Amino acid sequence: MDYRMYIAERLPVEGVGKEEIAESISVPPDLSLGDYALPCFKFAKLLHRSPAAIAEELAASFPADGVIAGATAVNGYLNFRIDRGGLVRETVGRILREREGYGSSEVGAGKTVCIDYSSVNIAKPFHIGHLSTTVLGGALYRIYKFLGYTAVGINHLGDYGTQFGKLIAAYKRWGDRETVQRGGIHAINDLYVRFNEEADEEMEKEAREYFRLIESGDKEANAIFNWFKELTLEYVKGIYDVLGVTFDSYASESFYIDKMGPVIGELREKGLLTESRGAQIVDLEAYGMPPFIVLRSDGASLYATRDLTAAFYRKQTYDFDKCLYVVAYQQNLHFRQLFKVVELMGKDWAKDLVHVAYGMVSLEDGAMATRKGRVVWLEDVIRRCVEKAQAVLAEKNPDLPDKEEVAKQVGVGAVIFGALYNSKIKDIVFSYEKALNFDGETSVYVQYTCARAASVLARARAEGLSWTGEALPPCEEEFELAKRLADFPSVVLSAAENYEPSYIARYLVDAAQRFNKFYIGCKILSAEPDVRLSRLSLTEAALVTLKNGLALLGIGVPEKM
Ligand code: ARG
Repeated sequence: MDYRMYIAERLPVEGVGKEEIAESISVPPDLSLGDYALPCFKFAKLLHRSPAAIAEELAASFPADGVIAGATAVNGYLNFRIDRGGLVRETVGRILREREGYGSSEVGAGKTVCIDYSSVNIAKPFHIGHLSTTVLGGALYRIYKFLGYTAVGINHLGDYGTQFGKLIAAYKRWGDRETVQRGGIHAINDLYVRFNEEADEEMEKEAREYFRLIESGDKEANAIFNWFKELTLEYVKGIYDVLGVTFDSYASESFYIDKMGPVIGELREKGLLTESRGAQIVDLEAYGMPPFIVLRSDGASLYATRDLTAAFYRKQTYDFDKCLYVVAYQQNLHFRQLFKVVELMGKDWAKDLVHVAYGMVSLEDGAMATRKGRVVWLEDVIRRCVEKAQAVLAEKNPDLPDKEEVAKQVGVGAVIFGALYNSKIKDIVFSYEKALNFDGETSVYVQYTCARAASVLARARAEGLSWTGEALPPCEEEFELAKRLADFPSVVLSAAENYEPSYIARYLVDAAQRFNKFYIGCKILSAEPDVRLSRLSLTEAALVTLKNGLALLGIGVPEKM
């Protein structure tokens, strides 16, 4: 239930819209004052009365009911008290009815969101730097679907550029079929690294020639390149499976090469293209940005050209309401330029292009420098996390059934949660210890809370009990938990609106903490029979909500831990 809106609908303030009232309602810092409060100061001017007088009047006419038990005026604030029994009854009832659907909605029905995420580069390491885009994008994809949108997951594979000529040159010089087939992306990457270390003028020339051959459709060059692509894709798909991430399109950069013509033509027609030292550019000086280079002086396209073409292709193909680019903040300028060019072309959908920028992830015990230093492959981070999870679980619960499976869920969950817990724009340092702390702000903590709830429910079922959403007037812990559970749908909504899966991650830790307060503070199985059923209903409602939230982030829940 959206309490703010519920209150706003029953609170006529002349000349002020319901939405605006709802938005002005906040949660007071001291809950003994009330569960919600509306400051009346900003209405004083409009209504020509003092805030205190306005609050008094509104309090006197507010219709108390089984949802809001009453309103009182204090110093220009209007404080509302929720009907506690009503809240618990309504929340628990709704969750146990809606189950997997709790938190979902139809707000996105008929709307399409394209989400460009992960978008790795062929033959390059899938390193820890790709973690954020992959799990952020994956979470947004699930969240939008949950809200009724048609979500289109797009992996804009980097498979175009002179570096691929280098790769083939290196393969021809040092490579052999078997080593590459066996070593896959690692072997290909080794070749690339070796090329960059050893290349002289002669080899660079070779590389340019091979790139030209790829472009001109040469059979052998393309056969090798396509093989590298396949090996890379096979490899990254393995990681996507582990992370539970999927895509609807793998339209790569090279896919757009034969589609650039009309877009460049339109730029020219509209007088946006100018020549600068032989290159074709869109001048963005008036907007305080460097030029957007469309074609280099040798006529070659750039990353930007292919992105511009991709934006048009997506608009045409999916008619999106929004197109998100989940890409590191290092590319801020690129996207500002790109979006500006679309706007200058007179497309009103330029406003629907969104760069969802995120910060860097590094490891506590080593940087992620790609060029010289060591690359931290994401697969190694995941493997280590699963191993650590195994060790932690073995210590906590040596008799645990399905140890391997549970360790996988816990370890992978820790990697995902570690990347999603903080506001996306922050740089984060990933720590194995912290990510697997049972008592921390972690997925393990939430998963463990779920296992705890599940085990209470299992014991109750074993005793032949059944419950259907009964709810007696709550004690403090029950109320605090149920109230938080009631927030879930609006948390999901605002996670989507702000492109912040971290809202859900933080919510889950908070809700789990409240469950544990309830679990420790209130008897469940040993309570009086009717209290017991009421608490079992609440326990199940908490489990359903935590599970739904974790699922949106791509994290599974073990039955037992
Ligand atoms: N492959 C690019 C990189 O690794 C990211 C592509 C992001 N998507 C896009 N449409 N530009 O930097």
